[in-house]
Amino acid sequence: MWVVISRSCIPFRVVIGLLLDAWIREAGYGKEPVLKSVGLRLEEGERVLVVGASGSGKTTMMLAIAGVIVNLLGGVTRGRISLAGIDPLTPTGFRQVPRVAGFVLQDPDKQLAMPTPLDEVLFTLENLGWGEEEASRRAREVLARFGLEGVELEWVENLSGGQKRRLTLAA
Ligand SMILES: Nc1ncnc2c1ncn2[C@@H]1O[C@H](COP(=O)(O)OP(=O)(O)OP(=O)(O)O)[C@@H](O)[C@H]1O
Ligand SMILES: [Mg+2]
Repeated sequence: MWVVISRSCIPFRVVIGLLLDAWIREAGYGKEPVLKSVGLRLEEGERVLVVGASGSGKTTMMLAIAGVIVNLLGGVTRGRISLAGIDPLTPTGFRQVPRVAGFVLQDPDKQLAMPTPLDEVLFTLENLGWGEEEASRRAREVLARFGLEGVELEWVENLSGGQKRRLTLAA
């Protein structure tokens, strides 16, 4: 799983500092925590590979940082997290996460819902309240930024694995 944190929409005070500053005291889904005392700090341009045995909690760490465990899965994340200046553990902060961070899960097919790349990006933009014309212009712009120019109207099932992963980030 990859996590990409975007600089666009990030307030200036954050751009000059860390993009991610997380200290997870405890995170998990039930009584027993999966993670204890884990920290992760990322500066702009840094790439970090998180390595660990299967079941050790890598995905859990990313879900905790994105606020998914507390806000969607009914689990626990205790600690402090600043993701591009947002606190994803609060419901208000959690709603802002898609504006600054993108997740590519292990199986991109589970993340794509629409028949074509254009529809997929339009779906997100229209949910964010963009009007039809502006959303269409911006969707094509975003698809081009992620190297998907020329396949905007292709069936998603015909895209390569890499193209699907780029599409999950674009959307
Ligand atoms: N939604 C969930 N509800 C309950 N327990 C879960 C859930 N997701 C993961 N777990 C448990 O949390 C632990 C850590 O799982 P996680 O998926 O974070 O591991 P991982 O390091 O990403 O493994 P892999 O390398 O196989 O992807 C495992 O014991 C797993 O069974
Ligand atoms: Mg995993």
